[in-house]
Amino acid sequence: PLVSTGDLVADARTAGRGVAAFNVITLEHAEAIAAGAEQAGSPAILQISENAVKFHGGNLSAIAAAAAAVAKSSSSPLSLHLDHVTDPELMRAAHPDGFSSVMFDASKLPYGENVKATADAVRWGHERGIWIEAELGKVGGKEGEAPLDAHAPGVRTDPTEAASYVSDTGVDALAVAVGSSHAMTSRTATLDHELIAALTAAVPVPLVLHGSSGVPDNEIRAAIAAGMVKINVGTALNTAFTGAVREYLTTHEQGVDPRKYLAPAREAMAGTVAGFLGLLKPQE
Ligand code: G3H
Ligand code: ZN
Repeated sequence: PLVSTGDLVADARTAGRGVAAFNVITLEHAEAIAAGAEQAGSPAILQISENAVKFHGGNLSAIAAAAAAVAKSSSSPLSLHLDHVTDPELMRAAHPDGFSSVMFDASKLPYGENVKATADAVRWGHERGIWIEAELGKVGGKEGEAPLDAHAPGVRTDPTEAASYVSDTGVDALAVAVGSSHAMTSRTATLDHELIAALTAAVPVPLVLHGSSGVPDNEIRAAIAAGMVKINVGTALNTAFTGAVREYLTTHEQGVDPRKYLAPAREAMAGTVAGFLGLLKPQE
């Protein structure tokens, strides 16, 4: 069924687990996330980024309707989230398509402007029952960005600033920069677990880890133990998808039916989803 992101995050936080949010680019991504969630017996968040909407020619409704339909027909609880939104117009288009949450990303702006733009987004969201996530600090590796030094000053999220930011904006969840970076194709990131614990103690809302594709299993488990709740995964699905497509195409040079490679691509993504979801379950 289609459920709300706020409920999934609150349930995970109460239980001391993580909840994973996976990026949807194509219909097959949404189907794979539902299949992986069903395999793992877990809930999950389907998230569509502003960049993915741009890829679909700016047509939010088409991909959102597909993802919402997949969620509704799934036996796993799945929610729909609009991710990394910088354009307030796009945010305002979210609600009628089944979105229960938005990440409004003003992290590029100086602190004061980030607070102001995010507080406006929160006001808009809370009038409509939409849960709002925002980012403070800089998680690098976003599309069109130069790679940044994760140790440079102003890059990592400062706990004192995070506490003021949350109270000044009223956000429901906070994406923090603690050593992960977007679009990594190897799982080699090292997180600052002391900083995660300090942020958990400093802010009253759940924390979000972006760029989790590049974070090893043990680091994800430790991050959840230190208080991280929403775990965002995108690139790992694309690595699985593209690997399966490449394998088919190199072995079937005459093949033309896209179903022949999209089926294994979807299955590979579902396996990746189930793997991440297995990590978030309580360890015995
Ligand atoms: O918001 C989306 C996530 O941060 C995805 O990051 O593609 O590096 O896993 P990733
Ligand atoms: Zn992200």
